[in-house]
Amino acid sequence: MSDTPSKSHGRKAIRPSLKPRELMTPTPDLVGVWKAKILTLFPTAFPGVLGESLTGKALQEGLWQLETVDLRQFGLTKHRNVDDTPAGGGAGMVLRPDVLGNAIEHAMEGVQGNHPLIYLTPRGKPMDQAMMQNLARADGVTLLCGRFEGVDERVLEHYNIQEVSLGDFVMTGGELAAQALIDATVRLIPGVLGNQASTEEESFASGLLEHPQYTRPAEWKGRKIPDVLMSGHHGNVAKWRHQLAEEITQERRPDLWEAYLKSKETKSS
Ligand SMILES: C[S@@+](CC[C@H](N)C(=O)[O-])C[C@H]1O[C@@H](n2cnc3c(N)ncnc32)[C@H](O)[C@@H]1O
Repeated sequence: MSDTPSKSHGRKAIRPSLKPRELMTPTPDLVGVWKAKILTLFPTAFPGVLGESLTGKALQEGLWQLETVDLRQFGLTKHRNVDDTPAGGGAGMVLRPDVLGNAIEHAMEGVQGNHPLIYLTPRGKPMDQAMMQNLARADGVTLLCGRFEGVDERVLEHYNIQEVSLGDFVMTGGELAAQALIDATVRLIPGVLGNQASTEEESFASGLLEHPQYTRPAEWKGRKIPDVLMSGHHGNVAKWRHQLAEEITQERRPDLWEAYLKSKETKSS
């Protein structure tokens, strides 16, 4: 526990001098503040990168909250076992339903409102911006991070847990996927980013990938910034950016391009 006093500013608890790990010291639930609860065997992996930069500052300012639940605390016997061999044989270990059930029920105690329970898994629905927008509008989220061969299927069925994937690859645990989900969600919460307009213009906001970005110097290694961006003509800049966003999306992501064309069609009919 840190000795740093918390100053209370209405619904916000401001803890100005705390280091990232100290941001995890238990704080009372702040009314109306988005909260992530993480069930993990590696609580010290948090806040990790979430404690840095804008997400870290926002955590410090009480714009969102983070709490870890250590799965090991719910382990069985004096060895605190959390896993067992897969039924039917095969390699690896599986996280036990009784251990996970106790941890989930502990984590969900007192949770109210729209607060989805999600298991991070390669079998899940791939993360996308629409999912993050929905989660940012929720009251918070509880994330179950798997390890080993994953979790007993009955837990997913019993608690009706949503399954979400970071992508089509297999990692050793769900912690990085949980941090990616939280980062992408928290930055959509009003006040977290300095410039809210940037979330309206960036990739996926309009169904397109973002146009290329440039900054000074005007010429670098013989490469110039496109003239239109230096023209000061806002209308032409906007037109150029939109055209480039369309070209890049069409070339790189035919799936997004098709969806974009369909949504344009629907809007105009
Ligand atoms: C080694 S993986 C288990 C993989 C599982 N046996 C399978 O084939 O689907 C261990 C844990 O890492 C997490 N994980 C791995 N890859 C992931 C991904 N692409 N997205 C989200 N979580 C992932 C999950 O929580 C999973 O339970």
